[in-house]
Amino acid sequence: MEDITPIPAAIVDEVYMKSGLSVLSKASIREMGKLVNEIEARSGKKFIHMEMGVPGLPATKIGVDAEIKALSEGVASIYPNIEGIPQVKKEASRFVKLMMDVDISPQGCVPTVGSMQGGLAAFMTAGFRDKKRDTILFIDPGFPVQKQQLSLLGIPYKTFDVYRFRGDKLKDKLESYLKDDNIAAIVYSSPNNPSWICLTDKELKIIGEKATEHDLIVIEDLAYFGMDFRKDYSVPGEPPFQPTVAKYTDNYLLMISASKIFSYAGQRIAFVAISDTLYHRKYPDLKLRFSSDEFGHYLVYGALYGISSGTSHSAQYALAAMLKSVNDGDFNFVDPIKEYGEKAKIMKRLFLENGFEIVYDKDEDLPLADGFYFTIAYPGMLSDELLKEFLYYGISAISLSITGSENKQGLRACVSFVQREELPVLEERLKIFAQNHPR
Ligand SMILES: Cc1ncc(COP(=O)(O)O)c(C=O)c1O
Repeated sequence: MEDITPIPAAIVDEVYMKSGLSVLSKASIREMGKLVNEIEARSGKKFIHMEMGVPGLPATKIGVDAEIKALSEGVASIYPNIEGIPQVKKEASRFVKLMMDVDISPQGCVPTVGSMQGGLAAFMTAGFRDKKRDTILFIDPGFPVQKQQLSLLGIPYKTFDVYRFRGDKLKDKLESYLKDDNIAAIVYSSPNNPSWICLTDKELKIIGEKATEHDLIVIEDLAYFGMDFRKDYSVPGEPPFQPTVAKYTDNYLLMISASKIFSYAGQRIAFVAISDTLYHRKYPDLKLRFSSDEFGHYLVYGALYGISSGTSHSAQYALAAMLKSVNDGDFNFVDPIKEYGEKAKIMKRLFLENGFEIVYDKDEDLPLADGFYFTIAYPGMLSDELLKEFLYYGISAISLSITGSENKQGLRACVSFVQREELPVLEERLKIFAQNHPR
């Protein structure tokens, strides 16, 4: 094997053995990163990194400048308002109106320490609101850490892979979980991490109508807002608007993160946007844990206060400035990140030309968009085997099996960290892989 793979097999085998990771497909993103870094250090060969969902573009300068200005004016010494500074609340509410055509008052728009914290607070509030409804339902595949958050909270969850239940089929599938009335909330991301499927308006309508019918909350994770590049969602106040369940129910909470759309992951800033109706809904069981039974009040003064006493003051200024520039039509946030779609198109072609298949390939009858992630499989190879084999070829990814996908063969490939200059290297490595593994 030593002569025929780009990374010497002896090094891969030794590092892998020492890592203690017996089943590679169970490795988390960070564990995979650690293993690969070690092989790189030992072999002196750089990997094509497709495991981590880091932005890979410089942070939006408008945010950086606003944050520096706020810091130099002294905000670092002052606790931020937990509900968020007025500027960020106002611009978040405008953003939701101008980019989604949805009305949410500034009160319901609350900055969080990334959507990770927004999710944690949302899971707590939705999961604790009614003792009889204690279970969260994931429309998977999904972002694995969210399930870890539920384990931390002791909140049970159920999940199904939407792959075989697209379009009208989603209705009966959802009903099969909802009929017992123990589901507190439905969670999904769209565009989706890891599969990059985008739920269609028909599917969002089904979810929204079921949420109203069963009185449950939809937690819509829009970490990849506007990044379905098949349509241009970038013009404020003009259709097409980012599709959302908010059009079909009042029981929703949206999570909008600056990490990917503004390449601002390092500052951990996002916001939740809670529908006006949900914000003011009273859930008596919240009083078992807190002084108020109001959903929005609990989320802010019960959950967020307890977790971190609000969100970094300067990052709120950054978010307010970035949202304002988008809202005012001064900054097209989609332009810089379109690069991900363009790279994905090339990378998918390279994989397909070398015998791979795309696992999640359609939104109902439409070909999937090219974006931040795509999913691959090599016929006849299980994901564990493929992940391990990739190590010899200097390619890293993560297994779909940690994302709630029922697909046993698939891997998630993230395009963001792969540089254009690395694409010929990827092509060469895939060619050698295909030669060594004839189909
Ligand atoms: C679907 C999804 N939700 C949430 C997050 C976390 O976002 P944040 O960086 O704002 O915490 C990510 C990040 O990769 C994601 O992919």
